[in-house]
Amino acid sequence: MTMNLFEDSALCRTWREELCPGAVVLRGFALECQTAILAALHEITAKAPFRHMVTPGGFRMSVAMTNCGACGWVSDRSGYRYDALDIDSGQPWPRMPEVFLNLSQEAAASAGFQSFEPDACLINSYQPGARMSLHQDKNERDFGPPIVSISLGIPAVFLFGGFRRDDKPMRVSLTHGDVVVWGGPARLRYHGVMPLKAGLHALLGEHRVNLTLRKAA
Ligand code: SIN
Ligand code: FE2
Repeated sequence: MTMNLFEDSALCRTWREELCPGAVVLRGFALECQTAILAALHEITAKAPFRHMVTPGGFRMSVAMTNCGACGWVSDRSGYRYDALDIDSGQPWPRMPEVFLNLSQEAAASAGFQSFEPDACLINSYQPGARMSLHQDKNERDFGPPIVSISLGIPAVFLFGGFRRDDKPMRVSLTHGDVVVWGGPARLRYHGVMPLKAGLHALLGEHRVNLTLRKAA
């Protein structure tokens, strides 16, 4: 892992850690707009509440999920896919808030990916003990655009692996406001989240919330 200079030295807003070619952690990148993000989250979850989806194999996921944007990632007995409708309510997912769009575009650009146009935002809510096993993000139509992942709330250990599930992953501690971007040569790397340790965050209580923005369609 290489540590670089302050990215925005005038503001010292953030610093970056390159994980490997195509993958970077932008520390504190989302802090500046945390109030707007949390307000938007509140509105989204009022319309499309967090729910525990079921895997195609029939297991209840420990992470609770919802979405916003033109399409949302869903899982049920028939598989993983993007769907324009919330399968619980039958309604379209809440629209993508401007703050998610702008922040993800700035983060992508700052990681070297210009013209990022996300149409999907998966919102994950982790309680202590919840985890995400190693997986690749590959339900998107095109792997050209990167994934932008925004961490909020209590810290988590993010696992960032190789191109095979059994490649030993790096362990990256992510805290409130950190943004990870992976794309290009890193786009299909396996990644996941270790079981969340208990904690208390001033704004999010005993939770970690993660937003992943993608260009799905
Ligand atoms: C994901 O891969 O969908 C989530 C990653 C995270 O929660 O940090
Ligand atoms: Fe993922």
